[in-house]
Amino acid sequence: MASSLEEIFPNCPDGLDYKSLEILPEHVAVIMDGNGRWAKAKGVPRIKGHSAGVSSFKEIVRVAGELGIGYLSVYAFSTENWKRSKEEVEGIMRLAVKAVKNELEELHSNNVKVRMLGDKSRLPKATRAAFEEAEETTKNNSGLHLQYAVNYGGRDEILRAVKEYANKCSVNPALLEEDLSEEGFSDLLYTHGMPDPDLLIRTSGEFRISNFLLWQIAYSEIYVTDTLWPDFDRYEYLRALLDFQSRDRRFGGR
Ligand code: FPP
Repeated sequence: MASSLEEIFPNCPDGLDYKSLEILPEHVAVIMDGNGRWAKAKGVPRIKGHSAGVSSFKEIVRVAGELGIGYLSVYAFSTENWKRSKEEVEGIMRLAVKAVKNELEELHSNNVKVRMLGDKSRLPKATRAAFEEAEETTKNNSGLHLQYAVNYGGRDEILRAVKEYANKCSVNPALLEEDLSEEGFSDLLYTHGMPDPDLLIRTSGEFRISNFLLWQIAYSEIYVTDTLWPDFDRYEYLRALLDFQSRDRRFGGR
């Protein structure tokens, strides 16, 4: 681990035993849900909820790096989120650009490698440029792998992979003779080269996958908390990690 647990969790609430954290997931995926409800409960505009959500995101990235977690993937904007009001969509895009640009220097100096999962073609120019710059700047880093899922949909990702494979086969029919393996198919996804998530966290008490990493979460442990995303801090993260290490993972075996 990069820092001591005592340093990472200095004000641990009673009953939460950070010292017993021993087994870490290699890849954590997060559905950051509840920003809107948080804002409503506080009587502030929805965008304030998203902006508070960015603060939770930053904290979780920091802790992942401190703990030495290998991969962190966050669901920032789905292919379905375009259905929201223009004002909210533009607000989220602005926040995403700000979050990526403002954090880039720190991420880079902490050896974080950034990747965007999703279809860049529909993104506003500034959003796309910010993610491309972050990917380019950090491409040789070897610390935490941080994936932002933006304009991401699991079904869309699978469909794209199938189309890409069909195209490859039409160019090179000899490929049809080869048996496409699960590994081969995984290589066609946005997440190529990455291990599947060991732990999927969803906040705000919803028991749904919402089209996130459909192929990749086949054997992920799922952790749902009622906590709304803007209230999700390092101690909530610790709760999820402790819960994860108590799971008996069998991957379909005995
Ligand atoms: C879910 O809450 C949150 C989103 C759809 C957007 C999350 C985006 C951010 C936190 C900003 C960008 C962040 C990064 C890291 C680039 P919701 O609005 O669905 O909440 P509700 O279900 O309570 O309405």
